[in-house]
Amino acid sequence: MTKPNRLLITRILPEPVMTRAARNYELTVNDDDLPYSPEELAAALIGQDGALVSLTEKCDAQLIAGAPETLRILATYSVGVDHIDIDAARRRGLIVTNTPDVLTDATAEIAVLLTLAAARRAGEGERMVREGRWQRWSPTGFLGTGLVGKQVGILGLGRIGRAIAARLKPFGVDLHYHSRNPVDAPEISALTYHPSSLDLFSACDVVIIAAAATAQTRHIVNAAAIDALGPQGVLVNVSRGDLVDEDALISALTDGRLAAAGLDVFQGEPNIDERWRTIRNVFLLPHLGSATIETRIAMGMRALDNLDQFFAGGEPADRVA
Ligand code: DGY
Repeated sequence: MTKPNRLLITRILPEPVMTRAARNYELTVNDDDLPYSPEELAAALIGQDGALVSLTEKCDAQLIAGAPETLRILATYSVGVDHIDIDAARRRGLIVTNTPDVLTDATAEIAVLLTLAAARRAGEGERMVREGRWQRWSPTGFLGTGLVGKQVGILGLGRIGRAIAARLKPFGVDLHYHSRNPVDAPEISALTYHPSSLDLFSACDVVIIAAAATAQTRHIVNAAAIDALGPQGVLVNVSRGDLVDEDALISALTDGRLAAAGLDVFQGEPNIDERWRTIRNVFLLPHLGSATIETRIAMGMRALDNLDQFFAGGEPADRVA
């Protein structure tokens, strides 16, 4: 039986999500699962009523302006919406939804993993064991930094930032944060607010980036911030590569002006700066923040909830434009 609405899904999503989508929509699926080029995406949108896109599809002003009249909603399979020109969507009257909440815990777990891995030099150790270079235990070898009693800062205290704070508290750290305004929530009463990001970096031994990528946060982690963190400092990023001036971070890590970094996200990923591959004191992950089976199913269901609400004539719960 023909279904009333046509939906493009731009990447292969977990099986229960695809099954539910196929039940409710006339589906077009990018079966290759390779990110569409802008031209391929524009062509695939023709004749669609909605699209379930992911962060690998750039939906810029040009694409949105040229989108077919039939297209009324873009549901992104992500909490981040930096790949979508939200102003252009508003101008065109295109609804945009995202997937908040459901990836908070998974992303906070990766932040903790990166913090420990960077502070305790897990990447260097793992490579040494794997490559057969481990010769003996040494009292002074591979010394990292412990977390107990350290000042740990969170840049951006939204859902993910708060979940990171809750997980790190039992490690015996003092928690700090910077966000545009102080956050008023009982569970974070023990966190110290810093009115500027530079104040946060100056006060902390470890800083974890959990703020959204916007024009205002681009390169918020610059040379001054990194130098304020200092030679014993550790930087972790689970947000987007654009928040960090990577040239500044690479030079600080290689010159010994920063102890270590743990990165799940990069500028221009997956085509990352080649220098990352050879820097000893950085722990690298391929954007795994939300990569658990439970989370990726929940993200798909959340995107479909929004699409279903919209096509039933309601207001999608996670509308961002
Ligand atoms: C998001 O949803 O924005 C995440 O980066 C995906 O892991």
